[in-house]
Amino acid sequence: MKIRLLSNVVLGGVLLAGSVMVNAAPGVEPVKNERYAEECGSCHFAYQPGLLPERSWRKIMAGLEDHFGENAELEESDRVKLEAYLTSNAGDHSNYKRAKKLMRSIRSGDTPLRITKIPYLVKEHREVPKGAVKHEKIGSMSNCDACHRTAAEGRFGERGIDIPGYGKWDD
Ligand code: HEC
Ligand code: HEC
Repeated sequence: MKIRLLSNVVLGGVLLAGSVMVNAAPGVEPVKNERYAEECGSCHFAYQPGLLPERSWRKIMAGLEDHFGENAELEESDRVKLEAYLTSNAGDHSNYKRAKKLMRSIRSGDTPLRITKIPYLVKEHREVPKGAVKHEKIGSMSNCDACHRTAAEGRFGERGIDIPGYGKWDD
């Protein structure tokens, strides 16, 4: 009996250690929903759910008919499914480091609709060279993958940055 209990404790410990390692992932969790990538990645980069808190995704998904000046409406069954994907994987439910940092910087009363307006990101982006965004291959700070070559993998660290018209960040 005792040995069995002990081995369960050890096994539990190993599983825990394993999940802690997964939790220590540095970026945000990559997109794992094909429908989402298709529908919400057709006009711009398919932003990972971990980049915004649940309340922000709810608000975005409730206003798709006027989405930053565009109509991004979906069939109701798709809208419901994609909202569920976004909210259950939102930044405030994520254990990824970058998601946690982003979420911590948002004041509890705020519901940002733009990832680019999250205080942590505004601060991180202060070093972006002035005028760089005007390059035809960028156009807007919303185009994460124009500069972050590893954005689709959920990695935004310095080593993956290559700004069109400016060059590699990490040199
Ligand atoms: C018809 C085109 C279109 C579709 C489809 C679309 N979007 Fe957008 N989205 C836009 C435009 C335009 C902007 C503003 C981009 C800019 O300012 O450069 C935007 C911006 C955003 C932003 C803010 C990015 C920032 O600046 O931080 C989020 C978040 C977002 N969209 C989520 C979604 C989600 C979720 C879906 C799928 C339900 C979706 N979008 C589908 C056109 C679209
Ligand atoms: C014009 C190029 C450009 C665009 C567009 C851009 N970034 Fe960045 N980003 C940078 C630079 C430069 C840094 C600063 C890197 C440094 O020196 O720490 C940075 C830093 C970051 C960081 C922190 C770095 C880290 O250690 O993880 C995150 C997270 C990030 N960006 C996410 C985004 C997201 C999400 C988008 C789109 C909504 C975006 N960025 C759009 C250039 C860009």
